[in-house]
Amino acid sequence: MAALSTDRAVAVIGSGAMGAGIAQVAAVAGYTVHLFDTRPDAVAKAIAEIAAALNKLVAKERMDAVACAAAIARLHAAAALEEVAEAGLVVEAIVENLEAKRGLFAQLEAIVGDDCILATNTSSISVTAIAAGLRVPERVAGMHFFNPVPLMALCEVVSGLATDAAVAQTVYDTASAWGKQAVHAKSTPGFIVNRVARPFYAEGWRLLNEQAADAATIDAVLREAGGFRMGPFELMDLIGHDVNFSVTQSVFNAYFGDPRFTPSVLQQEMVNAGFLGRKTGRGVYRYGDGVSPAAAGAAEAPAVAWVNAEAAQPKPEYVSYTIEQGSAAHAVAGTVVDALAARLRASGIDITHRKTPETMRAAGAHDDAPAFHCNGAAIYLTDGRSATQRACDNHHDDTVLFDLALDYGSARRIAVARADQCSLAAYNAVVGLLQAAGFTVTRLDDVPGMAVMRTVAMLANEAADAVNQGVCNAAAADTAMKKGVNYPRGPLAWADVIGIEHVVRVLANLAASYGEDRYRVSPLLRRKQMSGGRFHD
Ligand code: NAI
Repeated sequence: MAALSTDRAVAVIGSGAMGAGIAQVAAVAGYTVHLFDTRPDAVAKAIAEIAAALNKLVAKERMDAVACAAAIARLHAAAALEEVAEAGLVVEAIVENLEAKRGLFAQLEAIVGDDCILATNTSSISVTAIAAGLRVPERVAGMHFFNPVPLMALCEVVSGLATDAAVAQTVYDTASAWGKQAVHAKSTPGFIVNRVARPFYAEGWRLLNEQAADAATIDAVLREAGGFRMGPFELMDLIGHDVNFSVTQSVFNAYFGDPRFTPSVLQQEMVNAGFLGRKTGRGVYRYGDGVSPAAAGAAEAPAVAWVNAEAAQPKPEYVSYTIEQGSAAHAVAGTVVDALAARLRASGIDITHRKTPETMRAAGAHDDAPAFHCNGAAIYLTDGRSATQRACDNHHDDTVLFDLALDYGSARRIAVARADQCSLAAYNAVVGLLQAAGFTVTRLDDVPGMAVMRTVAMLANEAADAVNQGVCNAAAADTAMKKGVNYPRGPLAWADVIGIEHVVRVLANLAASYGEDRYRVSPLLRRKQMSGGRFHD
């Protein structure tokens, strides 16, 4: 297979935000591009904007002046649809409406040759439905770019039921030739990214709704412990709550009300209020008028000053590491716990290895050994139970949980949760311990699964389900999330690092805590857990 030859022209229909971006990358990659739009002046405006963007790159010495002039010269305004007759590939980026897209493709079939590929940039409409009724539905595929197209690396190549595999492969290779990271996906609601990303937003809303912490604190934990570029609320403020809510609703409806995708009442209220985010000056945060620190600069994380951080506590005298190498507990979450132990040791904290106290062993807690022990506090990695429940289960009041981090070695922040029955002295000793290792310690109220762990477990669960249902393979799922929404690690690779057994445990405990089908474990995760398999070698 090969990319469309640069001898063949590309037509882009619809020259709004997406169409202009698509035209730009195609022209830069060496293709003659015909741009068409029904709105007067839209094409001229798009071409002028592309030229300005490319000239800016030249000014920054990121593009050669000759290459820039050549790319601009390859852009042609089509005054009528008939002018795209010679195209080998048409990319449609018109209004998100099934009838409009079907109508356009039917018109195009009468204009272009039978070997011309018809691609749609739709993000929410079934590619199968768009192709239905055409004379040659085999030539229709999704070519789903992300906004802004010149900057976002991903292109989901979507096959509908009728799509010819060779057509999908040509689209894939063409997107690659345009400098994009292409992934294959089956036409299903949300494709890969808009489906797998839903829990990132939804778990944020649920944490907020249950008053785990304020929005700025949740954002800070996801960013500074989880390693995400932005927390869920600052990201939704940027996307716009109207847009984000409507994608969630569309995926929820398309999956016939599957509770995995239930929209948030809190977000609906944001939309009802017109608090749509940065674009209206108010979303979860306020922007402009010096109301919040975010007003200082759009790139700055908003409202950092409000983030909860525990006051300084003294470094405790000793800490012991209680998970025994080779034990059942170590087999489940050992990698993650060892990483935190390494951070503590690297900070000069003397960790002695000590067995789980007899009192806890007697209570049958040996299968659930705490990671660390410090001044009477049992410290565990969250497994989806609340600290309060774990304290009950293990008959040990002084119980504190810590949340997942992308990399404990470099994380600035760590979140903890205190059991309701945990003494302040024991809790403060844990805070002092983590502060001595250089962490900013943030307390979340005692909700099951904490923030990073439940978000990542749910992302991995959704990615696993997409793979299980043949939407894409594991490599594509991870690539899509890294390149389409800048996740610091693919969700399935992350599950491998945490340990599939632990991820399943987190989800099962969330399901038990909430009694909601939302947290049901993907059959593929279960299968990997039972076989001891991984997603990536
Ligand atoms: P937009 O509103 O900026 O641009 C759409 C353009 O299509 C307008 O200039 C409009 O005049 C033109 N148009 C409408 N009907 C037409 C027709 N029948 N023939 C020719 N031109 C027509 O919209 P945007 O954001 O560029 O989105 C376009 C498509 O890309 C939609 O399907 C959208 O779902 C999809 N998409 C949008 C993303 C985004 O972040 N904005 C991301 C990924 C996909």
